[in-house]
Amino acid sequence: EKGGYDHFMLKEIFEQPHTIFDCLRGRLDATNGTITMSGIQQYAEQLTQAKRIIIVACGTSWHAGLVAEYIFEEVTRIPVEVEYASEFRYRNPVVGEGDVIIAISQSGETADTLVAIESAKEKGAIILGVVNVVGSSIARTSHGGAYTHAGPEIGVASTKAFTGQLAVLTMMALKIGHLKGTLSEKRYTHLLNELNDVPEKVALALEQKDHIEALALKYKDATDALYLGRGYNFPVALEGALKLKEISYIHAEGYPAAEMKHGPIALVDDKLPVFFVATKDSFHEKVLSNMQEIKARKGKVIAIVSEGDDAANALADDLITVPFADELIAPMINAIPMQLLAYYIGVAKGYDVDKPRNLAKSVTVE
Ligand code: F6R
Repeated sequence: EKGGYDHFMLKEIFEQPHTIFDCLRGRLDATNGTITMSGIQQYAEQLTQAKRIIIVACGTSWHAGLVAEYIFEEVTRIPVEVEYASEFRYRNPVVGEGDVIIAISQSGETADTLVAIESAKEKGAIILGVVNVVGSSIARTSHGGAYTHAGPEIGVASTKAFTGQLAVLTMMALKIGHLKGTLSEKRYTHLLNELNDVPEKVALALEQKDHIEALALKYKDATDALYLGRGYNFPVALEGALKLKEISYIHAEGYPAAEMKHGPIALVDDKLPVFFVATKDSFHEKVLSNMQEIKARKGKVIAIVSEGDDAANALADDLITVPFADELIAPMINAIPMQLLAYYIGVAKGYDVDKPRNLAKSVTVE
């Protein structure tokens, strides 16, 4: 049932070209320039008129929410807040009619996320679920939404559900931006095509497998690691650090690259691996200067870069190259090397990567 792979986690990482394709199928039509999502279209009016959007989630799903915040604000110009469900539910949040809540959950059973949307629903908010498990509690509690169609995720650490969430959230944002007119026709068409190309680019990113395994052997004995990124790649850095913590038990922190100067840079020495998510985007020059700052302090720089990026090449100790994609779309591709790296480090250390210690697949208690 692991389909010839050593672990479910690896199988699920490698399924992503297909799971993302399944998620887009029947919804995205790049040729005709349409996105069809019935569970979103029903709420089109509330969405286009929303004063704000609040995203609630936990863990990896919360990271998908952060990427969505950047995408939604860019293309819909609706202010977005991303909340940890556990914090949101307990602080008597200001929420009510006119608010749209997006709940993101692989399992659809995370207790904090479920209770957060139940109380927001009582107060009159519209709840849209982005859920993987069909018929789950969060899916049933939501007014509408869209399934990620990633198939069962057995590995405890979330991989294919994350990229599925990003695919759904991106389609939602493009749909709303297009309806609202906040997204130009040209940019809309371009992004539809970019989204359409994701499965193929993810497959290319997966071809880095052996190289990433070699890097895993090189860095597996680190006691700490830093993950840095800016803009759309900042949440990817957070997700990279979370994957490493969960699977390899190496202490890792993700930060916006510029925040490093405000504290974490004190950690940098010649033993600290610093993973930069540094693909070509509007923040690229800034990220390169952050890399330089780490190099100047003798940190080890491992950079995830777009193919053919010579500037980054000169600054990094090690490179992982991925196909170039528009910055809105890139997180789906850049997440792949993060997942593989955590996987191979965990395996090299002899850990049970499918069932990391102390973790449960779905957190149904608060
Ligand atoms: C991380 C991971 C967890 C979940 C979190 C939310 O790899 O799996 O952080 O993302 O527990 O779970 P769902 O998405 O099921 O609500």
